[in-house]
Amino acid sequence: MATSGECTLWTTLCVCFTALHTSAVMVTMRESAIEVVRGDFVVLPCSFFTSSPLSRLNIIWTLAPFSSPQAPIQVIVYDHGQVIEDPSLIGRVAFTGLPWSADIIMNDTRVSDAGTYRCMVNNPPETADAGIGELVLSVLVAPSLPACHWDGDMDTGGSVRLSCAVSEGIPTPEIRWDKLNPEEISLPINMEDDLSGWVQIVNVSTQTSGLYRCSASNLLGTENCYINLSVYSAVAGNSSGILQGVLLTLSMALTLLALLVLILWLHHTGQDGRWRPSKQEEEEGDEGYNEIRYTPSLIKRSFV
Ligand SMILES: *[C@@H]1O[C@H](CO)[C@@H](O)[C@H](O)[C@H]1NC(C)=O
Ligand SMILES: *[C@@H]1O[C@H](CO)[C@@H](O)[C@H](O)[C@H]1NC(C)=O
Ligand SMILES: *[C@@H]1O[C@H](CO)[C@@H](O)[C@H](O)[C@H]1NC(C)=O
Repeated sequence: MATSGECTLWTTLCVCFTALHTSAVMVTMRESAIEVVRGDFVVLPCSFFTSSPLSRLNIIWTLAPFSSPQAPIQVIVYDHGQVIEDPSLIGRVAFTGLPWSADIIMNDTRVSDAGTYRCMVNNPPETADAGIGELVLSVLVAPSLPACHWDGDMDTGGSVRLSCAVSEGIPTPEIRWDKLNPEEISLPINMEDDLSGWVQIVNVSTQTSGLYRCSASNLLGTENCYINLSVYSAVAGNSSGILQGVLLTLSMALTLLALLVLILWLHHTGQDGRWRPSKQEEEEGDEGYNEIRYTPSLIKRSFV
C-alpha cells in the first residue's frame, strides 16, 4: 500500500514537472533513407526520448507506399502493452526493442514495402508534437533475365531489328546492345520504354553476321541474352556451292578410279596363288591380327 502510494505520488510529481517544462517526446530517426534487397530483412530505426514513465506509451508506424502514396497503412501499433500489425504484414513485422526503442524489423521484404515510413511516439501526458520521425525505404531488385529476339530480312541489303526486353529491376536497369565479334562494339539503342530497347541494322551484309548481346544491368548485377545472326550472301553462297560440287565430283571420280585399278591389280596377282599369308605374316599377325596388314606385304612382295 505504502509503495503504490509512493509511486502515485512520484507520477504526480512527474506530471507536474513535465507540465511545468512543457516537455515533449523527442523522436530521432537514425537514418533518413534505407535500401534493402528484396527478400532480405531490414530494421527501421526509431529512437525516442521521454522523461515520463512508459506506462501509457503509444507507438504507431505508418507507410505511404510509393505505389499508392495517397493510401497510407498502419504497419504496426503498440498501445497499452499490446502489439497490432496490419493484416497484410502479420508474421513479417515486429518491434525489436520495446519499450525502450520503437525500432521495427521487416522480414522477407517485397517491392510493395517501399515507401515513406513514419514513426509516431506518444507518451501521455507528454505532448507528441515533436514525436514524429520519417524515413524512406527502397526495395532493390536485380534485373531479370532479358528476352532477346530479332525480326526482319536477313538477305543481303535487308534490314534487321534486334529487340530486348527485361521484365523487372530496381533501380531501372540500363539496357544495351553490343556486337561481340569480330571485335566488341556498342550499338546505338532506341528505347521503347524503360525496360525495352531495340537496334536497327540496315543494308545487311555478310559482315552483319556474328554474335550480339543484350545486357540489362543495375547496381545489383547484370543479366544477358544473345542472338547469333548468320547472313549468307546469295551470290557468294551459290559460287561456293558450285565449287564444292565440282570438288566433290572430282574426288569421287578419283576414288572410283583408284578402286578400279586396285581391283584389277588384285585380280591379276590373285591368279598367281599368292593370296595366302606366308608363315612370317602369321607370326607377325600374333601381335595384332588384321586383314588390312596383308595389303602392304603383298605390295612389297610383288616388287621382289
Ligand atoms: C524475422 O526473421 C528472423 C530470422 O529468421 C526471426 O528470428 C524473426 O522472428 C522474424 N520476425 C518476424 C516478425 O517474422
Ligand atoms: C549497302 O552496302 C553495299 C556494300 O556494303 C554498298 O555498296 C551499298 O551502297 C549500300 N547501300 C546502301 C543503300 O547503303
Ligand atoms: C553462331 O552461328 C554460326 C553459324 O551458324 C556458328 O558457326 C557459331 O558457332 C555460332 N556461335 C555461337 C556463339 O553460337
